[in-house]
Amino acid sequence: MTAPMNSVISPEAKNVLSQFAATGVQSSFHGRHINPQIMADLNGSNWLLKDYEARGGYQALRKILAQGDAKSPNDLQVAGMTPDQVIAEVKLGGLRGRGGAGFPTGLKWSFMPRQFPGQKYLVCNSDEGEPGTCKDRDIMHFNPHSVIEGMAIAGYAMGITVGYNYIHGEIFATYQRFEEALEEARAAGYISKEMGDKILGSNFSFQLHASHGFGAYICGEETALLESLEGKKGQPRFKPPFPASFGLYGKPTTINNTETFAAVPWLIRHGGQAYLECGKPNNGGTKIYSVSGDVEWPGNYEVPLGTPFAKLLELAGGVRGAAQGRTLKAVIPGGSSAPVLPAAIMMECTMDYDSIAKAGSMLGSGAVIVMDDTRCMVESLKRLSYFYMHESCGQCTPCREGTGWLWRMVDRIHTGKGKATDLDLLNSVADNIQGRTICALGDAAAMPVRAMIKHFRHEFEAMIPKATAQNAERLTT
Ligand SMILES: Cc1cc2nc3c(=O)[nH]c(=O)nc-3n(C[C@H](O)[C@H](O)[C@H](O)COP(=O)(O)O)c2cc1C
Ligand code: SF4
Repeated sequence: MTAPMNSVISPEAKNVLSQFAATGVQSSFHGRHINPQIMADLNGSNWLLKDYEARGGYQALRKILAQGDAKSPNDLQVAGMTPDQVIAEVKLGGLRGRGGAGFPTGLKWSFMPRQFPGQKYLVCNSDEGEPGTCKDRDIMHFNPHSVIEGMAIAGYAMGITVGYNYIHGEIFATYQRFEEALEEARAAGYISKEMGDKILGSNFSFQLHASHGFGAYICGEETALLESLEGKKGQPRFKPPFPASFGLYGKPTTINNTETFAAVPWLIRHGGQAYLECGKPNNGGTKIYSVSGDVEWPGNYEVPLGTPFAKLLELAGGVRGAAQGRTLKAVIPGGSSAPVLPAAIMMECTMDYDSIAKAGSMLGSGAVIVMDDTRCMVESLKRLSYFYMHESCGQCTPCREGTGWLWRMVDRIHTGKGKATDLDLLNSVADNIQGRTICALGDAAAMPVRAMIKHFRHEFEAMIPKATAQNAERLTT
């Protein structure tokens, strides 16, 4: 669990955070989910194959691979599903990628050139480095078979026989847990032991391996991840070509986030329509939000897409210290790259891709960072800017030079040395980074700057002595 934005952490918060670090259990097993699909019936220790099967696990894989005569194309229970039917079902369900961009998963799967004669690859992005996000590690740690089953289904749908799960390097215990789950799945015949081994009496074979990174945020960007998986320095590639045509080892590759794959078994078992109805149009299913910052009970909350933000805040116990007068000031609704939104706007939003985009931000990875009225926005932006400066891979000039420039300017404002022209300059530097870089880390660094100045300009001006004096002069003349 990521610390609140300011460097001052209360003793209670420190206690909660250290508990998360110790067990991870408190972050997800609080019983305050709404209609959970991925987190349903988890208790922190029932991650084994037998537990997963008892919850209906691998039924979806059995369903699509089932042999028999179809009475009608919809008679899926009896006759299995063709790859096209699986993709159509995922499209119908309105599943959107949970890694950040919210790209429709079924559409992405349909880009895979299934008839390509050579090797094709499936990759799970478990790099999870976005500040505020801590859902994928809990999915893999406490429900690893949901990811394995989701990947096997995806492999079948796209005619892919080899997959990798690239796991963030700093969660080694989770990587080991995932390896154990893979061993169980191989022994039970849900994934292939050797190249070409057929699964569940079908003609489909699928090998799956885990691979761990070393903790670089940029390796979550899909093409940097592929480079890292190939054993090279994790730096993003120019696009196009996109991974669907030139991916891992130059072969067609589909990459999805951990939560995206984990959502697939429920969708296939219950059908796309049921999945869609669980959320709202164009935003099917549930989403796991990692709620952190100034709330009573930080943690992961799985709720249907379209749930009001006010409800999510309530599940997390509300603003910490509300009884002592603390109020909600702002929220970063989708991880550190997402533009901040003031409380009044946020309280009107529902938690789904379209509502948050309409309000001027992004649902992103679903990391909801809550800030109360004591938070200094200049300090918060300084912390964020430092992160992006530190994580820039250095390949492109606007990002390499611009992220450092942004941080230095915010730092000088924060330390009382800001100039009257700094706010315009900050916006201009952000403008010149956004959309001019190889990967979206540049955008991720620029967007928070523009949003913080747009919504909280007065806080920045108050820290710039000359700007304050000039404003006063302007108001009196
Ligand atoms: C700097 C950067 C970091 C990213 N980090 C992650 C990450 O940790 N996990 C993730 O799934 N996607 C991450 N993404 C998005 C991926 O590039 C990719 O869009 C995603 O894995 C696709 O999966 P989805 O379609 O299921 O969302 C990142 C993107 C950028 C630009
Ligand atoms: S935008 Fe930044 S992180 Fe992305 S490739 Fe360019 S320098 Fe590297």
